[in-house]
Amino acid sequence: ESYDMGGHDTYMHKEISEQADAVDRVLRGRIDDRFATVHLGGLNLDPREARGIRRVKILGCGTSYHAGLIGAGLIESLARIPADAEPASEFRYRNPVVDPDTLYVAVSQSGETYDVLAAVQELKRKGARVLGVVNVVGSAIAREADGGTYVHAGPEVCVVSTKCFTNTVVAFALLALHLGRIRDLSVSEGRRIIEGLRRLPEQITEILEAESDIKKLAEEYAGAQSMMFIGRVRGYPVALEASLKLKEISYIHAEAYPASELKHGPLALIEPALPTVAIVPDDELLEKNRAALEEIKARSGRILAVAHREQEKADHTIVVPKNENELDPILMGIPLQLFAYHTALAMGRDIDKPRNLAKSVTVE
Ligand code: AGP
Repeated sequence: ESYDMGGHDTYMHKEISEQADAVDRVLRGRIDDRFATVHLGGLNLDPREARGIRRVKILGCGTSYHAGLIGAGLIESLARIPADAEPASEFRYRNPVVDPDTLYVAVSQSGETYDVLAAVQELKRKGARVLGVVNVVGSAIAREADGGTYVHAGPEVCVVSTKCFTNTVVAFALLALHLGRIRDLSVSEGRRIIEGLRRLPEQITEILEAESDIKKLAEEYAGAQSMMFIGRVRGYPVALEASLKLKEISYIHAEAYPASELKHGPLALIEPALPTVAIVPDDELLEKNRAALEEIKARSGRILAVAHREQEKADHTIVVPKNENELDPILMGIPLQLFAYHTALAMGRDIDKPRNLAKSVTVE
């Protein structure tokens, strides 16, 4: 890939459009069908060490932190290792307990974000094992980590991250599958995830083909002063990321909440002028999510759902293809990248260079 715009008006649009190829690249050469697992060359983690991991702690900032949240969910569900993600910028200031049985994972597109690098250095000083999930080859975080995996998204120029987010989540799915197959994930479960991963590029293409419909929706919602994003469990980090994307390039105020938390406060904000974007996958939580849509509708809130089928309580639904439950978050964020993009475009924003932001934050 070159830095050429390739016929697109912005780098962001180019990078959104490249996602099917980018995902294909992160999968290429890594799947082992015979043993229903994946090989990640640079991990430097032998099976015995992998079996001894008691916790996984993922550290990153901004979009990379959101990818880490989805990654933690994948590791918990596929490898059954307790996992969580935390902003590296918070972690490094709270004198965390560094545990020898915890695997630390630093996530970064640029590999140069100072808060992440400082967290890695502090962890290493205290004897921790740190892996990197990084896009830029040979970057500071990649060099500092004990091992890790590259996400192979290719160069990302736009200040806001899109294709790298998607590829990072896929890289976490590979890591989770790898750890799961060393521990107690069955062959058939491994195969189920591998088949799901293989479907991703085609499904991404299908989502991107609906761009003109998403553009129309974005133009309809572009007048909003503020927007709410909700999701539950796997859907919550998708909501967080979609709200960040909208804020960064359109400057519309946006908040993301777990759908389950609505009744604990944010429901007070719901009224016709505050649209809600709801992540509603067809999974074990579908009915719970539908109940949240009813709560919003009962207060005359406008709803845009991202779902696997039309949601009758929503004013509009963006229907995305269904994958395995664990992999759904990879796909559900993609239409919302386009939604943020077309909202910002309708508002005349400078999409590739949003105000006050830099591509990589190499200072404290
Ligand atoms: C992404 O859209 C943001 N501009 C920002 O949150 C970014 O993800 C964050 O600064 C971390 O960057 P990194 O992935 O290069 O470490």
